[in-house]
Amino acid sequence: MFDFKDQVVLITGAGSPNGMGRIFAADFAKLGAKVVLVDINQEGVDANVAELKDAGYEAVGYEANLTDEEAVKKLVADVAAAEGRIDVLINNAGISQKVTVADMTLADMERIFSINMYGLFLLTREVCEVMKKQNYGRIVHLSSVSAKRGGGIFGGAHYSASKAAVLGFSKNLAREVSQYGITTNCVAPGLINTHIWKSLPEEEAQKVIDGIPMGRAGEPEEVSAAVVFLASKEASYITGEEIDINGGSHMD
Ligand SMILES: NC(=O)c1ccc[n+]([C@@H]2O[C@H](COP(=O)([O-])OP(=O)(O)OC[C@H]3O[C@@H](n4cnc5c(N)ncnc54)[C@H](O)[C@@H]3O)[C@@H](O)[C@H]2O)c1
Repeated sequence: MFDFKDQVVLITGAGSPNGMGRIFAADFAKLGAKVVLVDINQEGVDANVAELKDAGYEAVGYEANLTDEEAVKKLVADVAAAEGRIDVLINNAGISQKVTVADMTLADMERIFSINMYGLFLLTREVCEVMKKQNYGRIVHLSSVSAKRGGGIFGGAHYSASKAAVLGFSKNLAREVSQYGITTNCVAPGLINTHIWKSLPEEEAQKVIDGIPMGRAGEPEEVSAAVVFLASKEASYITGEEIDINGGSHMD
């Protein structure tokens, strides 16, 4: 089960030193995949690729701004040329901002959507063309509990809206690409123990924890387990679906 040998797994937002992308990359690499780490942060990508290579895994890095249509086209063309295929796409890059609707500017809204939704769309569109030729593909998008419960953890209404847009996009895409052996699913994490969480003041953090039945933040590894499952060959009859990973902070 869950063997990614001979598979190429592309992970965005994989240049963060203590974000989820780094953990996803390590887990796929341990399961035999060649991992392709992508981020706007070249230094971060280089560090995470070096860490994987030092541990004996196959990893390459690309710097790309996913909001730049030409850069995305070039990225996918370069990866497809170098690796010959892209089996799995993990749309993990994302940004957040804490702001009320009253104080939100149109520029704030556009910035959040430009990466969380438009960048995800641009990359998915290009990668799907590669996957169609292979007649195989697995796409997993990082949505958020905020999409379903209306925020309340971190990020403003624009963040919740962008992550809800991802859910709708994935479901619609599922209808279009199933015929090519491509599945598209989401994970919707709640509060996860990354730098965003660590940056919250103690009192605010405790308030959030009080609203989680499991009484703690989740670990990136707990999200990774679901991402790996949805990206596996074994998850072959699951598409247009999402898995909530939130310690019970939202149940539906
Ligand atoms: N941490 C949480 O609690 C949590 C909860 C729910 C959902 N999520 C989502 O999971 C994903 C990963 O979260 P994280 O906490 O690991 O975040 P993170 O900030 O550690 O990583 C996000 C990465 O995306 C990259 N990025 C930003 N803009 C980019 C662009 N234009 N082009 C390419 N890369 C870009 C950043 O450089 C960063 O390395 C995000 O989509 C986030 O919204 C996180």
